[in-house]
Amino acid sequence: MTETTAIAAAGPESSGARIELGHAPMDAIHREFYDCMDALRGPGDRAQSLLALHEHLLRHFAQEEHWMRETAFPACACHAREHEMALDVVAEVRRRHDAGDADIADRLAEELPQWFAVHAAAMDAGLAEHLRTGGAGSAAAHACTAT
Ligand SMILES: [Fe+2]
Ligand SMILES: [Fe+2]
Repeated sequence: MTETTAIAAAGPESSGARIELGHAPMDAIHREFYDCMDALRGPGDRAQSLLALHEHLLRHFAQEEHWMRETAFPACACHAREHEMALDVVAEVRRRHDAGDADIADRLAEELPQWFAVHAAAMDAGLAEHLRTGGAGSAAAHACTAT
């Protein structure tokens, strides 16, 4: 994480910090993610909020993976694997919610922001730095070390 990474305190309606990484298009997508989480915690239709979250994540992750491919970002494969795992979880939550598990959306609303905070710090921050510097930054420092 760089000195330009700022973790701003969340508003009272949100749980956890809202992470800003200093790359405006990525920060805009991340604000959409927080809005989806607020909607999921809100009084609206849960199935609709889960669908909106799923659609958002498909677009969010596809955009980041496009940026990674476009700029030959070295951590592309492991970053994309994390996206894939999160999408699998959201798909399973939707399936279980539709099957009558009334509590599953609450658990997702509690746990997904925690996953996102780690993902943003470990994966998105490196990509944001790479994009800000036109690929001339320390992308190699963020290369995947997973086996
Ligand atoms: Fe992201
Ligand atoms: Fe990501």
